[in-house]
Amino acid sequence: MTDPSPAPARLTLRRPDDWHVHLRDGDLLAAVAPATAHQFARAIVMPNLSPPITTTAAAAAYRERIVAALPQDSRFTPLLTLYLTDHSDPADIEQGHADGVVTACKLYPAHATTNAAAGVSDLALLDPVFATLERIGMPLLLHGEVTDRAVDIFDREAVFLERHLAPLLRRFPGLRVVLEHITSADAADFVRSWGPNLAATITPHHLHINRNAMFQGGLRPDFYCLPVAKRERHRLALRAAAVSGHPRFFLGTDSAPHRRHAKEAACGCAGIYNAPYALESYAAVFEAEQALERLEAFASEFGPQFYGLPLNDGTVTLERRPQLVPLRLAHPSASGAMEELVPFHGGEQLAWRLMT
Ligand code: DOR
Ligand code: ZN
Repeated sequence: MTDPSPAPARLTLRRPDDWHVHLRDGDLLAAVAPATAHQFARAIVMPNLSPPITTTAAAAAYRERIVAALPQDSRFTPLLTLYLTDHSDPADIEQGHADGVVTACKLYPAHATTNAAAGVSDLALLDPVFATLERIGMPLLLHGEVTDRAVDIFDREAVFLERHLAPLLRRFPGLRVVLEHITSADAADFVRSWGPNLAATITPHHLHINRNAMFQGGLRPDFYCLPVAKRERHRLALRAAAVSGHPRFFLGTDSAPHRRHAKEAACGCAGIYNAPYALESYAAVFEAEQALERLEAFASEFGPQFYGLPLNDGTVTLERRPQLVPLRLAHPSASGAMEELVPFHGGEQLAWRLMT
């Protein structure tokens, strides 16, 4: 028997991007933006603020606030998105695209998740918007869950695929769509079986946890997000998709911070804050799957290729230097009082450490 090759001590990757993140606003923006800017060169920033970012003018103003929240020497580029409503204006979207302010449009089915009340009530209402996106080549980003209360929460993604996504893709065959934060084998299979215009992002948490994590020893709000984590067989299917080298699966953290008291409440918010250790978290998955050599394409190549954007210059380095993730991260609130966020992997040791 030959010895397995020794585990590498360093991993150098082209600078990666996060194709789905929530940076929030105000004091929370100031608390979380540096973590994403440290890990990634660019990020697709979700527009589900309160009120949501529905116009190009609002996106331009939000971009300024994001840049103001970054460290002085940061080279990070936020890529802005517009939140689609029943009343979205195709002309404004086209203008935002032409001005280089808006990179993509995000569709939340109305009431699907945090700040989605103003989302789209009926996809058919947006055909003029979809036709515009198709024509100008701007990606449509989908929160792919039905909101029909009669559908079990663990089935809402799978039902969305047949009920809404397939008809939409057939109506607009040239529309480029990213199915965000997929959580099921059904979604991975659907993306693989569809043509080149459909891709998916995969979060670190859906690669690490299944639905049991939410009930481990009691109710565990820090593992609650939407779409909710599914059974183990779905987690395994997502890991297989992520490490497969298939170019239509790429990195999107869906880092979605909520203050600790808003998570640990009678009606806790959905969202997992994974930005500070995102690359280390993905590296753990790719290493366990013996696919570290495919992490770079997933993190740094497939996303820009799908979006039609250039690959980043420069590199980042991960070293095999174990680090303990803190249980909580404190930050000052607008009032000056300290608030806390609970990072994903809090209390765990991660084998890799981002050095640059
Ligand atoms: O868990 C989630 N949190 N899922 C979403 O779709 C939204 C996000 C948030 O904004 O908190
Ligand atoms: Zn999200």
